[in-house]
Amino acid sequence: MAKLLVTALLATFWHISNVAAIPTSNDFQHPSNGVCTRYTVREEVASSDPVWGLPKFQDNYDVMSFLVNFSRKDSATAFHPISGYQNVTKTYEVAGTFCTPTSPKNGKEKTVLLASHGIWYDGRYWASSYKPDEYNFVQYALANGYSIFYYDRVGVGKSEKVSGYEISASSQVELLVKITRSVRAGKYTSDITASKVVLVGHSFGSYISHAGIAKYPDLAEGAVLTGTAYANATDAIPFAISFISFAPRLATTVNPPFDRDSGYLGFGDIYAHTSAFFHEPYDIPTIEYAQSIYQPAAVLEFVSLTSLNLNASAFKGKVLVTTGEFDFPACGGECKSTYQGGVADLLFSGTKPETYIHPGAGHGVNFAANATGFFGRIVAFLDGNF
Ligand SMILES: *[C@@H]1O[C@H](CO)[C@@H](O)[C@H](O)[C@H]1NC(C)=O
Ligand SMILES: *[C@@H]1O[C@H](CO)[C@@H](O)[C@H](O)[C@H]1NC(C)=O
Ligand SMILES: *[C@@H]1O[C@H](CO)[C@@H](O)[C@H](O)[C@H]1NC(C)=O
Ligand SMILES: *[C@@H]1O[C@H](CO)[C@@H](O)[C@H](O)[C@H]1NC(C)=O
Ligand SMILES: *[C@@H]1O[C@H](CO)[C@@H](O)[C@H](O)[C@H]1NC(C)=O
Repeated sequence: MAKLLVTALLATFWHISNVAAIPTSNDFQHPSNGVCTRYTVREEVASSDPVWGLPKFQDNYDVMSFLVNFSRKDSATAFHPISGYQNVTKTYEVAGTFCTPTSPKNGKEKTVLLASHGIWYDGRYWASSYKPDEYNFVQYALANGYSIFYYDRVGVGKSEKVSGYEISASSQVELLVKITRSVRAGKYTSDITASKVVLVGHSFGSYISHAGIAKYPDLAEGAVLTGTAYANATDAIPFAISFISFAPRLATTVNPPFDRDSGYLGFGDIYAHTSAFFHEPYDIPTIEYAQSIYQPAAVLEFVSLTSLNLNASAFKGKVLVTTGEFDFPACGGECKSTYQGGVADLLFSGTKPETYIHPGAGHGVNFAANATGFFGRIVAFLDGNF
């Protein structure tokens, strides 16, 4: 169908030195209520990848020039950061963790959730070590009997770093597809054999999960797409507006800097992260924790996102589409009308997606007030359908 104004989200950080209760950004802990195994995932991926068509950024003035070009109202026709497509076959290496409950419940552990985080984070988005009883989705899913595989996408966390001018939404989709098939085959699930696989995403992770089941309808039994909304043509939620809210800067120039090439961007500061992912009343220690774990984003991921094919009419599994009431990047700050637009039904015409809007939350729903209420709705969807 016509190109949708899908918007994705991401997050960022800098170092927190004065808040003793906040764990350091390097602790990739898994919850204590799971039997967890870490995997180095290696998968060969064939994808049609966009080719970056502009000079590489030299400094933040180049980034501002790009930002203005990308955000102008006619950018869809006037701005061409992608010069073409090429078929690429490449082996990627990512860091993944599989956890199964220490206390299994009625075989539910054979339903394996496969969680893909969004842009601006890594796998820690799902497994907060700050106030885990409030914010840790992995812990919550395990407590309710589900197994879960979560990973750092290529370019962030402990996964392989590829140039920000090379890693695209389409290659991330095909990599997720490979990982999903290997999870089903038991390659990364310890001694569990999955009977069902449910893709769980946040933001960019939701869009690649969605694109995966659109292209390969038998890939998974279901999908939980969080931090997501689908705007219709008249509900003009400019992706560009969310992009500007990130106040992106070269990842090498933020504080502290990231060791990446100039194709990676970071949040201008913690306030940019706040405007894009949180909603008032702000819980500042939570925002500071989120800032301490944020990751840079590849510019090619942004510009290739809207080229994903999201027509999932052949998918017959169960789908939950959900986000926070005030999600700025996905809904332009007000989600009820966007959800009323009904585009999710059009995209998933082979099934009937459930929807849920979490009151009071912004885009970063896992770090929002009453996040366990949000997790509870996801588990209710899982319990009801799998
Ligand atoms: C999705 O694809 C199907 C099959 O090609 C087509 O019939 C349908 O109109 C498409 N839906 C949208 C919303 O574009
Ligand atoms: C932005 O667009 C102008 C033309 O309007 C072009 O000269 C410039 O190279 C573009 N810069 C970037 C970084 O996209
Ligand atoms: C990529 O591969 C597809 C399928 O094999 C082919 O149709 C397409 O022309 C190729 N594209 C390029 C740019 O080589
Ligand atoms: C698009 O969504 C808006 C809500 O944001 C709704 O009022 C409008 O009727 C929708 N347009 C179409 C063509 O469905
Ligand atoms: C938390 O969210 C759940 C799910 O929407 C809701 O049922 C519950 O009332 C909320 N709790 C509070 C304290 O807002």
